[in-house]
Amino acid sequence: MDWSQLVVPSLRSLNPYRPGITEEKLRRDTGLSEIFKFSSNEAPVPPSPAVTAAMRDALAQANRYPDAQALLDKLAQRLRVPASQLVLGNGSIDVIASLVRAFVSPQHNVVLSEFGYCAYPAFVEEQGAMVRLAASGRHFGHDVDRLLAKIDLRSSMVLVDSPTNLSGHALTARELQRLIDNLPDRVLLVLDEAYAEFADGDAPRETEQLPLRHPNVVVTRTFSKAYGLAALRVGYGIADAGLIRWLNRIRPPFPVSRVALAGASAALDDRAHVEHIVALARDGRRLLVDALDAMNVAVVEGSANFVLADFGSAARPVYEGLLARGFITRAMHAYGLPTHIRISVGTPCEIEQLVTAMQGLLQATPPVHAIEEGV
Ligand SMILES: Cc1ncc(COP(=O)(O)O)c(C=O)c1O
Repeated sequence: MDWSQLVVPSLRSLNPYRPGITEEKLRRDTGLSEIFKFSSNEAPVPPSPAVTAAMRDALAQANRYPDAQALLDKLAQRLRVPASQLVLGNGSIDVIASLVRAFVSPQHNVVLSEFGYCAYPAFVEEQGAMVRLAASGRHFGHDVDRLLAKIDLRSSMVLVDSPTNLSGHALTARELQRLIDNLPDRVLLVLDEAYAEFADGDAPRETEQLPLRHPNVVVTRTFSKAYGLAALRVGYGIADAGLIRWLNRIRPPFPVSRVALAGASAALDDRAHVEHIVALARDGRRLLVDALDAMNVAVVEGSANFVLADFGSAARPVYEGLLARGFITRAMHAYGLPTHIRISVGTPCEIEQLVTAMQGLLQATPPVHAIEEGV
């Protein structure tokens, strides 16, 4: 059967997103018993006992479809936004995909950054719409002027990740405000804040309030990173209540499981655990940056739970050498950066083992040169 003739035409040319390797896959492929995962920017520690207990309790009612209102209400209270301005998703990526489905038609284009999250273009292509790529700025971050310059009469959305998935570089409060102030009302700004809880310094504050003041701004967040619940697949969007009513028309029924709702709700109450994960990220970043510096590897350090290392020459041998030793990092070919590897923060002990493995590999093939700041 030639399925290519039967699928919707937009699928034929679509460039799919390829997720990173799981521990299970590497174990299946190599037979290695000890695997260290530094590739998908997850939390390096398991959920807290309170979260695990809440999920176990929820399992007792696994025969019933879930009701999401309790989590919506708790989030609304925490974020100081009405529950009618919240939408939950099977991970924040599900909310983002729904936004593109709801607001992007074939005659539209979506403005993305050159080094924005590489999962976005497939959503746009699926709609049969065009991507307009704005060149990125320093540290692979967003360049507001270039993003604004790419908006034309066909643009229905600007979609940016801040901090970014690639380098962790975040828009400053001023940059974000300038982007919003200069955005036409008919263009939706989707601000993907998967790493919001890690951001520091001059990062924008209280961005969850933006959709209340600007109906064309949507903010998405997740429980996958700082809340340490990537496997549960829970994320949310904050948006104008009218927009959410439209969005809900295309949402599948019950997108978040009862267990995931219970886990996310308990995680919201367990602030100490989130603070622990954020502190691990900050301290682990420091450890990684210092170790990479000492190995003469250039690093772009953002404000999330990972660093982007530039090995100056093809990073493939390092990536594959690490993989063969059970260390999963993320090669950056999907971003057209063959000399870079992104490394998520692990526990201090895991980082130490990774650094030792990397030192061994780099003694065999030292990095050729170090880059200057970002691009
Ligand atoms: C910038 C960005 N947005 C969204 C996601 C998806 O997160 P979720 O697990 O909430 O779907 C990721 C995951 O790595 C990400 O890096």
